[in-house]
Amino acid sequence: MKIADIRTHLLEHRLDVAFESASMRFDRRLHVLVEVICDDGTVGWGECLGPARPNAAVVEAYKPWLIGKDPLETEKIWAQCYNALRDQGQRGLTITALSGIDIALWDIKGKHFGVPVSTLLGGRFRQEVRAYATGSFKRDGVDRVADNAAEMAGHRAAGFHAGKIKIGFGVKEDLEVIRAVRDAIGPDMRLMIDANHGYDAIEAISLGKQAADYDIDWFEEPVTPEHLAAYRDVRANQPIPVAGGETWHTRWGFAEPFQTRCVDIAQPDLCGVGGFTEAKRVVDMAALHGIRVVPHVWGTAVQIAAALQFMAAMVPSPVRVNPIEPIMEFDRTHNPFRQAIVTTPLEHQRGVVTIPDGPGLGIEIDRAALREFAPKEG
Ligand code: NI
Ligand code: CA
Repeated sequence: MKIADIRTHLLEHRLDVAFESASMRFDRRLHVLVEVICDDGTVGWGECLGPARPNAAVVEAYKPWLIGKDPLETEKIWAQCYNALRDQGQRGLTITALSGIDIALWDIKGKHFGVPVSTLLGGRFRQEVRAYATGSFKRDGVDRVADNAAEMAGHRAAGFHAGKIKIGFGVKEDLEVIRAVRDAIGPDMRLMIDANHGYDAIEAISLGKQAADYDIDWFEEPVTPEHLAAYRDVRANQPIPVAGGETWHTRWGFAEPFQTRCVDIAQPDLCGVGGFTEAKRVVDMAALHGIRVVPHVWGTAVQIAAALQFMAAMVPSPVRVNPIEPIMEFDRTHNPFRQAIVTTPLEHQRGVVTIPDGPGLGIEIDRAALREFAPKEG
C-alpha cells in the first residue's frame, strides 16, 4: 500500500450570532480536514487545529515527503516530514498541518488492520468518557453575566457533570460571571475557567485568588503560551490549579513547561501537538512528571473522534482501583460540523460520550456534507 494523494477540505458555516473568547472573535466556523488516499482505495481522515487556509497550504507543502510512501509507517513519516521543515518549522502551522496528516495515517492503519486506533495505541482502558461542556463565550448583543449563567444551567440540566466558562475580559466582570454561574449551577457541578491567554500575570493572580472561593477545578491559559515564567508566577501565587498547552507543539513544546512545572494539567490537542504519534509521547512525558492530562478538543467530528480514540487508550496515572478518568472537552457552541459531516453523529448522552469501536477513527465521512459546507466564495 502506498500514499497516492493528499487532499484538504475546507468547511465553513457562518454564525447568526458572533461570539468572542478573550483572544479571538468568531463570526463563522471554519475548519480544515485532511484526506489521505492510498493506491488500494483506502482513505484516511485527519484535521488540523487553527487557521484553515494556512493549514491547508502547509499540508500541500508536505506532499513531496508523502506521495509513494507506505502509510503504515507513521513514525518514519512523522520523523521525515518534521525533519523536512524543522529548521524553519519547529512550532506552529508546520506542526498543526503535520498533525492532520498523522491522524489520517493512523485512520488508514486502523482500517488496514481492521481495528480502532485505540487498539493500535495499546488498548482501551474505557469504552466511554464523561464530557465537560465548553461554552459561555461572550456573545454579541446580550448581557454576558446572565447569558453565561443561563447557558451553564442548561448544560447542568442536560446532564453534564462539569462545565468551562470563558474569562479574560477584565477581572471585575469575570468575577461577576463566575459568581453568577456558580449560583446558577449549584455547588456540585464542577466548574473550570479559561482566560484564552487574555490576562497578564498580575491580573491572573488577582482573579485566581478571588475566584478560588467559587470552587474552580482549573484555571486555563491564564497568560500567553510563550510566557512560561508568567505561568510559573500564576501557578505559585494563586490557589487554583493551572491548565494549558493547547498551543504548545510537539514533545519539545511541552518539555520546558513540564520540567519547570508551569501547569498542573496539560492540554495537548491531537490536531495541534503533532497527531497521535506525538500526543502519545507528550502524555508519557506528563506521566513522567506527575502532571495530569486533559486533551484539548475544538473542531469537527474528525477531531472529536480522534480525541475519543486517544482518550480510550490513555493510561490512568496512577493506576488504582478507582482511577482518575480523563474527561472529554465538548464544545457546546453552534457548530454543525460536530454532527453533519459523519454518517453517525458523535453525541453525548447525559454528559457521557461512547467511544466508537469501528476501524481507524471509527467514523464514516459524509461527502455530500463536505460539498454542502465548502466555502462559497474565494
Ligand atoms: Ni447555523
Ligand atoms: Ca481553551
